[in-house]
Amino acid sequence: MPLLGVNVDHIATVRQARRATYPDPLDGAKAAVAAGACQITVHLREDRRHIQDHDVLRIKKSVASRLNLEMAVAEEIVLFALKVRPWQVTLVPERRQEVTTEGGLDLIKGRRRLREVIPRFRAKKILVSLFIDPDPAQVAVAKTLGADAVEFNTGAYAEARTKRGASVELAKLKRGVAQAVGLGLTCHAGHGLTLSNVGPVAAIPGIGELNIGHALVSRALMVGFGEAVREMRQAIGDGAR
Ligand code: PXP
Repeated sequence: MPLLGVNVDHIATVRQARRATYPDPLDGAKAAVAAGACQITVHLREDRRHIQDHDVLRIKKSVASRLNLEMAVAEEIVLFALKVRPWQVTLVPERRQEVTTEGGLDLIKGRRRLREVIPRFRAKKILVSLFIDPDPAQVAVAKTLGADAVEFNTGAYAEARTKRGASVELAKLKRGVAQAVGLGLTCHAGHGLTLSNVGPVAAIPGIGELNIGHALVSRALMVGFGEAVREMRQAIGDGAR
């Protein structure tokens, strides 16, 4: 069974919408670990739209699980990651204008920078995972760059609008995982996974870890909203009495 990595970025999205001190992604990370998450994932974006530097530091210090830091290879972020020393970095492409990560890294275009950066992480014993689309050429290059793992982008599978489209994307993921495992790479997957589409991905032999965020934070809001309203009515009642 693949391990669950819980991405707490969007707890910080709600906090940053008000520049408030709550909700705190650290509390979410602790709750996730108590519920069986094996890893906490955070994406420290260059524009700091959700997770802040202090969140990464506090989660690293106070949460008893692996920390997977998603990041672009911008030098400022690389230096921060080398200082924090998470369990793993997952290198992703990043565009300021994007709403979320839009696709996998192009390892062929980016190989010069990756060749320079990957050994710096490995020298500090930080595992390196590369977020890629399930494309055979990308998998082959991941191996030559000296990565420990690849995380397959499940975005196209998750966004498929037809059953046939989803099964075509699932087949690409299966082939990608088989190729990566054959090359000795550890395999992860993530992006856009939900309660209703995670099953077939979890069933792919060789996937060690799934990183899931948006669907979990969304579901938590809906599961917990009624209780939050009940608590507020109670507080209003107590105040008015
Ligand atoms: N894996 C990677 C590399 C990502 O960039 C993201 C989104 O930050 C995720 C997993 C989680 O995706 P989602 O929030 O759609 O579950």
